[in-house]
Amino acid sequence: MAEEEVELEARLQEQESFDPPESFVEQANVSEPAIYEEFEENWPESWERAADLLDWYDDYDTVLDDSDAPFYKWFKEGTLNASHECLDRHLDDRGDEVAIEWVGELGETRTYTYAELHREVNEFAAALRELGVEEDDVVTMYMPMIPELPIAMLACARIGAPHSVVFAGFSADALATRMTSADSEYLVTCDGYYRRGDALEHKAKANEGLDGVDHDVTGIVVDRLGDEYDHPMRDDDHDYGDLVAAQAGAEVEPVERGAEDMLFLMYTSGTTGQPKGVKHTTGGYLSYVSWTSHAVLDVKPEDTYWCAADIGWITGHSYIVYGPLSLGTTSVMYEGTPDYPEKDRMWEIVEDYDVTQLYTAPTAIRAFMKWGKQYPEKRDLSSLRLLGTVGEPINPRAWKWYYKHIGGESCPIVDTWWQTETGGMMITTLPGIGTMKPGSAGPPLPGIGAEIVDTNGDEVGAGRAGYLTVDKPWPGMLRTLYKNDERFLSEYWEEYSDPDADEWVYFPEDGAKIDDDGYITVLGRVDDVINVSGHRLGTMEIESAIVGVEGVAEAAVVGGDHDLKGEAVYAYVITEDGYEGDADLEARIIEGVEDAIGPIARPEAVIFTPELPKTRSGKIMRRLLEDIANGDELGDTSTLRNPEVVEDIANKVGE
Ligand code: PRX
Repeated sequence: MAEEEVELEARLQEQESFDPPESFVEQANVSEPAIYEEFEENWPESWERAADLLDWYDDYDTVLDDSDAPFYKWFKEGTLNASHECLDRHLDDRGDEVAIEWVGELGETRTYTYAELHREVNEFAAALRELGVEEDDVVTMYMPMIPELPIAMLACARIGAPHSVVFAGFSADALATRMTSADSEYLVTCDGYYRRGDALEHKAKANEGLDGVDHDVTGIVVDRLGDEYDHPMRDDDHDYGDLVAAQAGAEVEPVERGAEDMLFLMYTSGTTGQPKGVKHTTGGYLSYVSWTSHAVLDVKPEDTYWCAADIGWITGHSYIVYGPLSLGTTSVMYEGTPDYPEKDRMWEIVEDYDVTQLYTAPTAIRAFMKWGKQYPEKRDLSSLRLLGTVGEPINPRAWKWYYKHIGGESCPIVDTWWQTETGGMMITTLPGIGTMKPGSAGPPLPGIGAEIVDTNGDEVGAGRAGYLTVDKPWPGMLRTLYKNDERFLSEYWEEYSDPDADEWVYFPEDGAKIDDDGYITVLGRVDDVINVSGHRLGTMEIESAIVGVEGVAEAAVVGGDHDLKGEAVYAYVITEDGYEGDADLEARIIEGVEDAIGPIARPEAVIFTPELPKTRSGKIMRRLLEDIANGDELGDTSTLRNPEVVEDIANKVGE
């Protein structure tokens, strides 16, 4: 390295705060610091600013109705349609501009202008109607990153049918559980897709899932692989291409939906083994993702914006589909992996399309760092104006690498904390205003109330770790868990609320600390949820898959630190009498987890042990198992019933 560069590197590593570049501030959608006070002083009416980004049919009469808290209602009596907001209203001015730039893994591309996307969404909406889909029927989608996925989502939105997208990497069992829970009688899926150049079958997996659903399901199958793969169709299946062709030129009037009507369901993991069906609404959710795309991602219609997430997760819903399209911009959608065919694939796409904003996850940034700066250096990344991260804490070193080697030290970075349940971003700097501090997400967004408290709900001082809480409602919040109000109350509102005083505090189940200047550093989950490569997995779900394997008596799953993935799955397993903890059982355990959930939940290590460390009351000491997985100094073992077992397990992991 040249001397100058060494100096620059050293300066960067020491620097603790970064101001947004002047050139960015000058053009930012939001650059007046007064916005924080404006929201505060005029709350909740200040949220009209978000609703004003949409084109409502009927105006709402109340911004926030908290009469039945925590079942809040936003923008009551307002009516709108999400497909109209994302398509129709852009047609006059931007019909010929690009809505979706799709890049397939093998290098093929597809471009949809707003007019073209509008046309196909209408045709598919007409086809869904013809198949019998009615307003409020839940339509499940089990699809990889192909354009037909957002098309199907918008077609559902058009006819008022909520969608439930199941990540394509989830297993057949996971699909069955979600379809059963949502009483969903329609499934849009595809024959297969490409991963690292190979065709992967998908339809047989979908069929296997449907075998586990008790009610009848009408299927719609997109032919992604063409002749390469002869996919097994069921009697109740229809070919997507045929359906759309039969509706050529059809127009479907968007259904007028109430602000509080459900737009979609998204299943996510929680403390128990049963996934939670998070319900998002049309008015509040759409206003919120539109507002945060505008204020935080600085999206403008003329941008080419790229969120490199998967639409199967909330990030893709909010910031590939609904946020950017509601603002009429160009949203890039990439089917494949970042290292295929070469490790510069992401940078090639940025260069080819002149991408202006890139929003990705720390796990990806850590991988880019490991591969080396020579890959981004090969490409012209000067079109980039803003960078973002989401999904897990980002360590300062990775933040600085991203800042320097991708952003060329001229792009602000927004480190955005939020969750499936929050619908959109909650804690982050505003890129046109806030100083950035690597590793710390920043202050809560204007209008968002966040506090760090101890177990009694009292605020903790600066620098001390506590629990993150949200003490004001916000438009993008989940409204309930599908058909399970009780669980909604107990999961999120029991811990810190005081119902007698009508005081409601949302608990996201994250630990955090706050600095003197109000910047929040999110430390990670405090429940039994682990975050593997930004994917949220419930340890209970994995444990129940493992104990379902023949020969397993008991299992405890924890998250251990992992350089690239953030966290990895560690499974401690006790075998049944007569079974050996050998390679065969390990392979069956891994298979069991992949079948029940999917390859993302595959254990990094399976550790066979005769006992698990338990307290005198019989509770498994997970903290200790985490310490062992991380090779950390072991905490206090004196409260254990069986302290001797700890060393045995630690030795095994060390082997
Ligand atoms: O622990 C937090 C972590 O991801 C969890 C939410 O996961 P999920 O619902 O799958 O949504 C992920 C995408 C929004 C949170 O409870 N998390 C998310 N963003 C951050 C984060 N942790 C630290 N910093 C972030 N920026």
